[in-house]
Amino acid sequence: MKIRKAVIPAAGLGTRVLPATKAIPKEMLPLADKPTIQYIIEEAVASGIEHIIIVTSRTKRAIEDHFDETPELRAALERKGDHKKLEMLERIESMVQLSFTRQPTPRGLGHAILMAKDLVGDEPFGVLLGDDLVVNDERPCLRQLMDVHETYGGCVVAAMRVPHEQISLYGNVALGKSITPRTHRIRDLIEKPKPEAAPSDLAVIGRYVLTPDIFDALERTEPGSGGEIQLTDGICALLERQQVFAHEFEGTRYDTGDPVSYLTTSLAFALRRPDLAPGVIAFLKNLHLDESRALDKLD
Ligand code: UTP
Repeated sequence: MKIRKAVIPAAGLGTRVLPATKAIPKEMLPLADKPTIQYIIEEAVASGIEHIIIVTSRTKRAIEDHFDETPELRAALERKGDHKKLEMLERIESMVQLSFTRQPTPRGLGHAILMAKDLVGDEPFGVLLGDDLVVNDERPCLRQLMDVHETYGGCVVAAMRVPHEQISLYGNVALGKSITPRTHRIRDLIEKPKPEAAPSDLAVIGRYVLTPDIFDALERTEPGSGGEIQLTDGICALLERQQVFAHEFEGTRYDTGDPVSYLTTSLAFALRRPDLAPGVIAFLKNLHLDESRALDKLD
């Protein structure tokens, strides 16, 4: 079945990047000069998604504001005759149909997805986590998962191989039969296992295609670790009833959820921009001097 809708859960507290996220949503932190969530929406649109549902909370109003019309800004840019920036505003404000729904308290990713139940309705949908980015200019990651769903049905999670000792940072896939070299049936999903207990080095990252059966599964899911309703537990409950695939996507994945990942991702995105890269490269070339001074200070 064709996928038209996608959900972006963006109601988490972002505690790992405090104090930046005390009043600013993590999903609004800029990578180079663009908010993280804008890149994620661009990926969804490039994948063919027509309607995006963003799950927000009381402290996340800036997300809704970012995609709303801004008459004062428009008037100022018109006065200046800045047509390039006017076009940019126009693009942001008319990118795609957006709906917003609230998660009253951050009770976990599974609970956030449940908040979108009525807006999604009875059809399969994509999920893109608000702090996870995947770069593939030819075939966006979500599109790759949508293709798997449209060919084989069922749910699809994006997976990537990680060094064995890092698997405890991710959801981990126990593999069943492979359908193609990159697409495998999932036998089981284990949330953040110890490396010695991990059945594979395949980690789940923040892109999914889910069938509407997930809502029923999540409604029956008891709170797991940290008192949160885990999406992984909901997907596991579906394993008995339908096929769930792990697809090893093509592309480079970046995270923005902790300070070092956020900084390195921002740098990587600046280096992809022809207008910003030369200045950033010039800075980096001289950085070894500054770096040794910064390290000296730590001693
Ligand atoms: P994370 O666990 O990475 O985000 O969830 P967090 O909870 O904001 O981060 P920390 O651990 O406190 O630093 C992944 C995505 O799911 C959303 C987050 O906003 C993030 O984009 N999320 C998470 C929700 O929407 N609701 C939740 O209850 C939890």
